[in-house]
Amino acid sequence: MAALATPDDRKIIYRDIQHQILSCNRCQLSTTRKHAVPGEGRLDSNVLFVGEGPGEQEDLRGLPFVGAAGKLLDQLIRSLGRTRPEVYITNLVKCRPPGNRDPLPEEINACRPYLIAQIGLICPRVICTLGRHALHALINPTWSISSVHGRAVQKDGIFFFPTFHPAAALYHPASKEDLINDFLRLKALLQQEKPPWI
Ligand code: URA
Repeated sequence: MAALATPDDRKIIYRDIQHQILSCNRCQLSTTRKHAVPGEGRLDSNVLFVGEGPGEQEDLRGLPFVGAAGKLLDQLIRSLGRTRPEVYITNLVKCRPPGNRDPLPEEINACRPYLIAQIGLICPRVICTLGRHALHALINPTWSISSVHGRAVQKDGIFFFPTFHPAAALYHPASKEDLINDFLRLKALLQQEKPPWI
């Protein structure tokens, strides 16, 4: 679908997905959110970042990763030689779980079609999952992040690249070092001219 779509088609489809997310009431998170947070960035980015869910600042502003964890994510993105507007950033669940609790499986499932639609539209070469929730929902529910972070796995023609959530690095300095090293590996993956199977 995305291969056939013109840039204008993509903008229309994108606006439709954003609109559906902004007016969504598929789960209980819609009753406590201030703003749904669909995601932002370039629709033709070759890398898509998927976090866990909006926090307080994101809920207030309707934008992903604008709090403390977002500042670190911005730095990490710059280490790739990119800026935030040059990549696409979204979350597993688009509405804030109250008190920043973990998203529940039924909330992740209710929101999943939006993420799948975003992936289908953007067609990124690499999906970088931030934290264990995105790892479990998109790559493998049994994997431990400390064992698999920084290693790309190929699935459905896309590289999935799990790493730690930037918020973890705010509390555990060792995770920050791991994140920085993982982003060096991510940079190398993105610099490959073409995926090796083409
Ligand atoms: N943490 C997330 O997982 N996503 C955000 O947008 C902000 C903080």
